[in-house]
Amino acid sequence: MSVASWARHRRDRWADVALVDALVWSFREACIGAGVAQAVDAPIAGTGFRAPEITHVELGPPVRLTVRMPPGMVPAALRRAGPLVAPHLGGVALRVTDRGHGWALVDVLTVDPLADYVPLHLPRTGPAVLIGRGEDGLDITEDWRRGAHTIVQGVTRSGKSVWTYGALAQLAAQPDVLITGCDPTGLLWRPFAMSRHAGWQVSGLADLAAHEALLRRLVDEMDRRVRELPTDRDTIAVDLERPMLVVVLEEYPGLLRAVDAAEKDLGKRIRALVGRLLAEGAKVGIRVVILAQRAEAAVVGAFERAMCSLRISFRTDNRASVELLHPGTDVQVADAHTSAEPGIALMSAPGRELTRIRAPYLGGYPEYTAAIAGACA
Ligand SMILES: Nc1ncnc2c1ncn2[C@@H]1O[C@H](COP(=O)(O)OP(=O)(O)OP(=O)(O)O)[C@@H](O)[C@H]1O
Ligand SMILES: [Mg+2]
Repeated sequence: MSVASWARHRRDRWADVALVDALVWSFREACIGAGVAQAVDAPIAGTGFRAPEITHVELGPPVRLTVRMPPGMVPAALRRAGPLVAPHLGGVALRVTDRGHGWALVDVLTVDPLADYVPLHLPRTGPAVLIGRGEDGLDITEDWRRGAHTIVQGVTRSGKSVWTYGALAQLAAQPDVLITGCDPTGLLWRPFAMSRHAGWQVSGLADLAAHEALLRRLVDEMDRRVRELPTDRDTIAVDLERPMLVVVLEEYPGLLRAVDAAEKDLGKRIRALVGRLLAEGAKVGIRVVILAQRAEAAVVGAFERAMCSLRISFRTDNRASVELLHPGTDVQVADAHTSAEPGIALMSAPGRELTRIRAPYLGGYPEYTAAIAGACA
C-alpha cells in the first residue's frame, strides 16, 4: 500500500467512525422524540431515557442497523415510528425486521419502497388474489374464500377502480366464483357482457329498480343457502354449483344518492338488503366489496363497517377519513396519507397491523377489458 493510499484509507476509516457515532446519537434522540423510549427517574441522575440501542452498524448502502429494544418494547413500536425516525438518519423510511428476543434489523431506506409500479401479470394461479405489495417488498394476497367482506375508500383518482380491476380480473378466472353487483358508473361490468357473470350484474342509473331486484335476488340466494346448510355444518364450501358470490358495490354512495332522490323507501330497502348480505352472507359464500370515496356514516354505518374485515384506504382528504376505517392510526401516518400517490393505500386486515401498500397495476381500461375477456374465455 502506498503512503498516499494508506492516508486516504485512514481518512475514510475516520469518516466512517464519525458517521457511525452520528448515527448512533441521532437514532437515540429520534427514538426519544418519537416516543419509542421509556423515561426513567433516578434520584441522583434525574430523568433519563431507555431507548432502542444500536449495537452494530453496516454503512452499506443501504445503512443497516442492528438494534436491541429495551425490555418491554418490541420492534413493532419502532416500525410504527419509522416515518418520524428515518429523516434523522438521512432516509425516508425504515424497514424493520423483527429478529425475536427484542432484536431488530433496521434498514434505512433512501427512496420510498413503494415508489415503483407493481405490475399485475395475468393469469395468476391459485385462489390467492394479489391485492398489493408492502413496504417490505413482499406480495400481499387475499384468499376471498377465507376472508369476509371488503371496503375500499379514497378520493377521486386515488386508485380504487384500478385496484378493483386487478382483483376482479383474478377472481373472474376462478370457475367457482361469480362476480356480481351494482355499478352506477356503467364501466365496471361492460367487459363482462356475454360472460356467465353478466346475468348477475346491473349497470347505470337508468333503472334503479333493477339494482334493488338484483340485491333481493342475492339475499334470496343467501337465504336458500342458509336453509340448505347441513345440520352438522355452519358454513358452506363453495363449489361449481354454489359459487362464491362476490358482490361489488362500485361507487356505492352514488347509487344511494340516486335512489334516495328517486324514492325515499327505495334507499331504505337497498340499505337493508346490503346490511343483510354483510351480516349473514359470509358463512354461505357471499363476499361484499364496497367502494366509496369516503366511508362516512351516511354511506356505511358503524355496523356495516364492522362487518368488513379487509379495509383499504387510498388517498383520503383528511386524517378523520383514515380514522373511519383504521381507528387508532398514528396521527403522522394519517396526515401523510392525505398526499399519497395514486395506487398507494393503507390496509387493515385480520391478524395484520396497519400496512402501507401499493396496489398492483393491471393497466388502464383497455387492459382491464382484455383481462376480463381472457378470464371469461
Ligand atoms: N396501483 C396503481 N399504480 C399506478 N398508478 C395508479 C394505480 N392506481 C391508480 N393509478 C393511477 O391513478 C388513476 C386513477 O385511478 P382510479 O381510476 O382507480 O381512481 P378512482 O379512485 O377509481 O377514482 P374515481 O373515484 O374518480 O372513480 C389511474 O388512471 C392511474 O393512472
Ligand atoms: Mg373509480
